[in-house]
Amino acid sequence: MIVTIDGPAGAGKSSVAKRLAQEIGFDFLDTGAMYRCVTLVCLRQELSLAESVRVAEIARSIQIEIRGQTVHLNGEDVSESIRHPKITKSIRPVADNVAVREAMVESQRRWVNGRDVVTEGRDQGTVAFPNAECKIFLTATSEERARRRVAQLIELGVDASYDEILEAQNLRDAQDTQRESGGLKPAIDAVTVWTDGMSEEEVLRRLVAIVDGKRLINNSNDQRSSQESFLLRSS
Ligand code: C5P
Repeated sequence: MIVTIDGPAGAGKSSVAKRLAQEIGFDFLDTGAMYRCVTLVCLRQELSLAESVRVAEIARSIQIEIRGQTVHLNGEDVSESIRHPKITKSIRPVADNVAVREAMVESQRRWVNGRDVVTEGRDQGTVAFPNAECKIFLTATSEERARRRVAQLIELGVDASYDEILEAQNLRDAQDTQRESGGLKPAIDAVTVWTDGMSEEEVLRRLVAIVDGKRLINNSNDQRSSQESFLLRSS
């Protein structure tokens, strides 16, 4: 079974998607980490991100291994370095590069093959896994997301201005939604969850309930189709 979780930056997708995967015993795929890996390699090679053909070659040639929370790039643990603000700031041309997106989607599809997976990103329910059994679009108002980010930064001892965070976030939202290929939008059959005013625990409980509901529907559909094929065979 594939559970897709898409949504804008700051909606709390990553932490809740990881917890959901743990709770229901599924593997977890963080697709943002894949775009971050491509960006990291390009920056290390001092390659201009505007060189779309070479950036796409890199995307096709690197080995990204995602094991639980750890991300290995060509065998090196880059779990922390891919989260550096420099990567976040530079990632846009990489995520906009259509050939990079094709390579990423292809490797996401290979990765989930034969597994039960919670996969998180921007285009998982729309482009990567249009036939996923359970699609969730996790979001919150931009003000709520900015407030949460400020609180996180203050907890880390980092000085944060609400207005600056909100502005940067609005810019990222616009870039994510306006992207021609794989732009951020809810899949037509996704369940949208607005998380304003909800604790992470409450969001998790809601997601578990959605997945359980979809599993029940899938199981009864499976039973019905096996009964139908039994009836066809016996008639
Ligand atoms: O989710 P995260 O913030 O790590 O994603 C990093 C960047 O990668 C985002 O800015 C987003 O635009 C891009 N991304 C994407 N498609 C995905 C996942 C992430 O374009 N499936």
